[in-house]
Amino acid sequence: MLRSLPPLRIGQHTAHYPIVQGAMAVRVSGASLAGAVANAGGVGVISSLGLGLNSPYFGTRLRQGTFFIANQLALVDELQKARALSPDGMIGVNILVATKDYSVVARTAAANGANLIITAAGLPLHLPAYTASYPEVALVPMVCGLEAVQTICQTWQQQYDRLPDAFIVENSKAAGGHIGTTCEEFNSQIENVLPHIQNYLQNQLQVTIPLIAAGGIWERADVDRMLALGASGVQVGTRFITTEECDADRRYKEFHLNASSGDVVVVPSPVGKPARALRNAFAEKAIAASPDLERRCIANCLENCLCRDHRQSYCILQALAKAACGDVENGLVFSGANVGRAEQILSVAEVMAELTGVRDAVIA
Ligand SMILES: Cc1cc2nc3c(=O)[nH]c(=O)nc-3n(C[C@H](O)[C@H](O)[C@H](O)COP(=O)(O)O)c2cc1C
Repeated sequence: MLRSLPPLRIGQHTAHYPIVQGAMAVRVSGASLAGAVANAGGVGVISSLGLGLNSPYFGTRLRQGTFFIANQLALVDELQKARALSPDGMIGVNILVATKDYSVVARTAAANGANLIITAAGLPLHLPAYTASYPEVALVPMVCGLEAVQTICQTWQQQYDRLPDAFIVENSKAAGGHIGTTCEEFNSQIENVLPHIQNYLQNQLQVTIPLIAAGGIWERADVDRMLALGASGVQVGTRFITTEECDADRRYKEFHLNASSGDVVVVPSPVGKPARALRNAFAEKAIAASPDLERRCIANCLENCLCRDHRQSYCILQALAKAACGDVENGLVFSGANVGRAEQILSVAEVMAELTGVRDAVIA
């Protein structure tokens, strides 16, 4: 008989199951997916990247500046919708440190009821300053290795007298979307990285901070494997794409459903990091650095962008949004390495039941 899974405590909040739904841009994980996962006892996460784009707040005239206001307003809407779906569930917002409006989005998320803020794509060295008025909001940086953990802990202790409430540790060998770039990050097995981080936290800092393992988690056995390594929970992205509640267009879900592991490629991105995605016409062009790629910057979203600053690569916001809206050949379809295992589109409750091993996983 399966042992029952422990709850996941992050700061002042507790999720019934140690399952965090990975943020997926653009609008692949919005209020619908996040609310459903939170309702089923996991942690639902809204991806904040580019929320303003297909919102009523961003007109057809693409004026500079309006995009950032649209992002804030759309995030408030999304948080309200998720909270209406799951009044008591645990709901987080994922923010990319590499975006220009990162600090504003972090404040907006904290002020509008997010239980936790997860950061990715950069070191969130000043995140505690942005959310200082909201001590109940848990802060969770996503990292690939020990070096990032050390830098964040040292900076936060010195400047803010606090530490993160949890870390998400991403397995670059399997995770979807942007993946680690340094040799250390790319070649490290999560089986080695997790104990290193744990050892540093326990023996050098003498603290216990929950670690959440991300990348390649598909079923209960994967959850058990990560918990046995010392993780307090797992983060799951790709598996939630083929759900009814996933916010992406049906064609995006079906593209995932019909893909196999042989379709997974690593594409360059304007962020300057490689990213794991599914092979399609767009990915082929991105890999070949084809001159046909759309190089118009539509929203000036990133601090440093190869597309805007050097007319290289492509506009990632446009590419991700296009795919999520259903243009799965001309957009960028991020995916984890273990795509191809989904046999049909399921409800979030069914996926949670498989991940937890509890048939009736819906608790709310
Ligand atoms: C479609 C897609 C979009 C993603 N977008 C983001 C994002 O906006 N922010 C982020 O931190 N991670 C993003 N990720 C990574 C996931 O949150 C998660 O960590 C990763 O997919 C876990 O690996 P798995 O897909 O094998 O479960 C994305 C992944 C996918 C598949």
